[in-house]
Amino acid sequence: MILVTGGAGFIGSHIVDELIKNNYDVIILDNLTTGNKDNINPKAEFVNADIRNKDLDEKINFKDLELVIHQAAQINVRTSVENPIYDADINIIGTLNLLEFMRKYDVNKIIFASSGGAVYGEPKYLPVDENHPINPLSSYGLSKYCGEEYIKLYNRLYGLEYCILRYSNVYGERQDPKGEAGVISIFIDRMLKNQSPIIFGDGNQTRDFVYVKDVVKANLMAFNWKNEIVNIGTGKETSINELYNIIKNEMGFKGNPIYDKPREGEIYRIYLNIEKAKSLGWKSETDLREGIKRVINWMKDKKNINR
Ligand SMILES: NC(=O)c1ccc[n+]([C@@H]2O[C@H](COP(=O)([O-])OP(=O)(O)OC[C@H]3O[C@@H](n4cnc5c(N)ncnc54)[C@H](O)[C@@H]3O)[C@@H](O)[C@H]2O)c1
Repeated sequence: MILVTGGAGFIGSHIVDELIKNNYDVIILDNLTTGNKDNINPKAEFVNADIRNKDLDEKINFKDLELVIHQAAQINVRTSVENPIYDADINIIGTLNLLEFMRKYDVNKIIFASSGGAVYGEPKYLPVDENHPINPLSSYGLSKYCGEEYIKLYNRLYGLEYCILRYSNVYGERQDPKGEAGVISIFIDRMLKNQSPIIFGDGNQTRDFVYVKDVVKANLMAFNWKNEIVNIGTGKETSINELYNIIKNEMGFKGNPIYDKPREGEIYRIYLNIEKAKSLGWKSETDLREGIKRVINWMKDKKNINR
């Protein structure tokens, strides 16, 4: 039995679907703050609860778990800066609460969703590898890193096995365009409404956009990665202007973007070194244009949950 926290969310729900396809028994733990009921795979057991609950073991039989895939989090960078206590409560205390149940019931392993975009801070060199100094520029980046460190502590103290995956910017079907993270979904959403997307800054800032199904594959491969920290990205940088043009061409959008002032505290360029993941047998397989086409098709017909 595998527990997927955040399994009603964007990335978590894709992980659940793949696990179900591979005949695993899955429990989803999600309180639906940003998750969506429609994302929940009907073949999984769903527990509507908060990862911070002190009575989780009354709802989940931890003894039956072989693995926890921990995706649930407060993911909004700006919320984390405005309300760092709320962010820390979910991302640090919530993670620690799960770890305590895992210790109590002797659950063997955790796979943890961390952030390659947030923990390293302003890159000192590019592409950023796993040994890059950790200098987060937001409470979110720090709370994710604290989660990593608690997991490593539980490994040292109690032998808990782990794999920490530091994702770059993940995109794909089911990403909420209302959120702050999904620039691809936001641009597509605006163009579908015939509104011009807004680009903050000059648009030459770059990110590493990785397709959600490639991230899912990394999570399944991580079953066999023992006590590793691994960047999961494409190893390629794409500017927001390039991204805009790809989406514009795919959608036949006629308008122009609106340029606004840059957002404070945002990194200018970042992309991840993925040599370690490659050496472990994983690589990002989905070309950006192809992934974007899939998101466009999905967003045109959201009734299709694409399972
Ligand atoms: N999307 C990205 O680009 C990206 C990049 C790096 C890391 N990550 C990490 O990947 C994970 C998944 O992110 P996502 O993009 O799918 O976000 P998401 O918001 O779609 O998913 C998070 C899920 O966690 C649930 N949740 C939040 N707080 C909870 C709580 N206290 N108790 C129980 N459930 C709770 C939400 O309802 C939601 O279903 C997160 O840990 C995030 O930090 C995401």
